[in-house]
Amino acid sequence: MNTLRIQGQSGPSEIVVGERIESLSAYLPSDGRIVIVTDTNVERLHGHRFPEAEVITIGTGEKIKTLESVAHIYRELIRLEADRFTFLVAIGGGLVCDVAGFAASTYMRGIPYGFVATTLLAQVDASVGGKNGVNFSGFKNMVGVFNQPRFVICDLELLATLPSHEVANGLAEIVKHAAIYDKDYFDAIEASVPLIEQLDLGCIEDVVHRSVVIKAQVVNRDEKEAGERRKLNFGHTFGHAIEKCTGLAHGEAVSIGMVIAAHFSNQVTGFPRRERERLEKLLKRLGLPTALPIAPHDILQALGKDKKRQGDSLHFVCLENIGRSVVRPVTLAELSAFLTAAF
Ligand SMILES: NC(=O)c1ccc[n+]([C@@H]2O[C@H](COP(=O)([O-])OP(=O)(O)OC[C@H]3O[C@@H](n4cnc5c(N)ncnc54)[C@H](O)[C@@H]3O)[C@@H](O)[C@H]2O)c1
Ligand SMILES: [Zn+2]
Repeated sequence: MNTLRIQGQSGPSEIVVGERIESLSAYLPSDGRIVIVTDTNVERLHGHRFPEAEVITIGTGEKIKTLESVAHIYRELIRLEADRFTFLVAIGGGLVCDVAGFAASTYMRGIPYGFVATTLLAQVDASVGGKNGVNFSGFKNMVGVFNQPRFVICDLELLATLPSHEVANGLAEIVKHAAIYDKDYFDAIEASVPLIEQLDLGCIEDVVHRSVVIKAQVVNRDEKEAGERRKLNFGHTFGHAIEKCTGLAHGEAVSIGMVIAAHFSNQVTGFPRRERERLEKLLKRLGLPTALPIAPHDILQALGKDKKRQGDSLHFVCLENIGRSVVRPVTLAELSAFLTAAF
């Protein structure tokens, strides 16, 4: 078991990798009420392992990541007479953590909360870092807050019930962490693909820990994404556009986005071609797609609507080498010229 700390402006956050959900009570205040928020799948599969508490259940799928779901949680909290001393625990994937984290951050101007992350993506990415929000009017994560959970528990045994395409979603973010920050980690992933795919407990604990170390370090340096944290968007500029146009899963779209960003990096930083091929090969071995499934024109249209765009330019994450990245301002016209010429 490993514990890491994030020192956020809203307070400290403790991330415990390898802890079990059965120990959750040890992280909760002994006085005051506990309310759990989860989704229907997690409740069905793991509800018997929850501690004694009131449970609010939400549905599943990105379409329910709305203010209406947040309102449902508020209504239930009011019905349960939850007050400012009520502690909310979200038990679920990134979606439950985002929706419940936002509800907890705003109900009565904020009540304390923690997460038990139940998907690989939530453990290595979504639950860590204090960003909580929902989609609005067709824009992803358009409304939200920065507010750190008191704790994040990553119980690796919960991953045993995760469908393989959900595992793949998390693997894309894991490769991203290694590609932007840590060559040794990249080498280690390459050397242990079969164990990672089997979710071998020892191996996956090491992987989740290394990813959380990276994410926690970045967030500690730049909680509100004014600089360094932007690097975590590697592969996401094109990835989000592809996700929007194709309906591919987030991890699949980010996998393709990373390959395109690696191509573009060659032009910007001289990122070597053989390193791009290495990245591409690893993603393929992990069962992730790497080829662009749509016309460049469609991606460009979606890029124009990127909420992270500032005027005509985007902060684009390029690789210098495996394990080293830089953020560069890039115009839509430059991306357009590159995509048209390269694909
Ligand atoms: N806040 C952030 O910093 C941040 C970062 C990355 C992603 N996100 C958000 O996270 C969300 C995606 O997270 P996700 O991939 O965890 O999706 P998810 O929460 O939708 O979970 C995926 C599916 O797996 C099911 N599930 C969860 N745990 C399970 C388990 N242990 N066994 C079996 N099934 C299980 C869920 O019910 C759901 O059907 C997106 O909304 C994304 O925007 C947020
Ligand atoms: Zn992502």
